[in-house]
Amino acid sequence: MSYLNVIVHRYFCSMAEDLTIIQTTDKAAQYQSLIPQIEALITGEDDLIANLANISAALKEQFNWFWVGFYILKNDELVLGPFQGPVACTRIAKGKGVCGTAWEQAKTLIVADVDEFPGHIACSSLSKSEIVVPLFNNAEVVGVLDVDSEHLAHFDETDKTFLEQLVKLINLA
Ligand code: SME
Repeated sequence: MSYLNVIVHRYFCSMAEDLTIIQTTDKAAQYQSLIPQIEALITGEDDLIANLANISAALKEQFNWFWVGFYILKNDELVLGPFQGPVACTRIAKGKGVCGTAWEQAKTLIVADVDEFPGHIACSSLSKSEIVVPLFNNAEVVGVLDVDSEHLAHFDETDKTFLEQLVKLINLA
């Protein structure tokens, strides 16, 4: 890399390089460390896709979940947005799967065993549990954050609390 490239790279990518990943099994501590960093990462950037991409990457780095990403509401369907993990289904209708149900009910859903959830959409047979957090613009659901784990019962009220706090930082206007 040339000297100029190094300067340019450092200037434009400083925040992403500075992401601090903590090694602990304390889930709340992981969120408390990561969420302010995500806030710094997306502050000053108004491109939604860029921010959702960085949020997915930051969450994947800290938690190493099987799949983490966003579905965005377009023409009355949830359409796959930025994510980290294996390829996933691209469109989900209202009321379908965990994502479409979280959209319909406008609330966070925690699924301890996806095989027990009627209509669960299996993008991968390795996914065992899931949490889906709606994104709101005023009172309207405009997308969801979806997280999948290859472990049963991986998500709990701590994830719900912090992920709901996190999605409030996203400017969806
Ligand atoms: N399992 C989700 C579909 C999306 S993938 O898990 C990435 C659902 O049932 O809505």
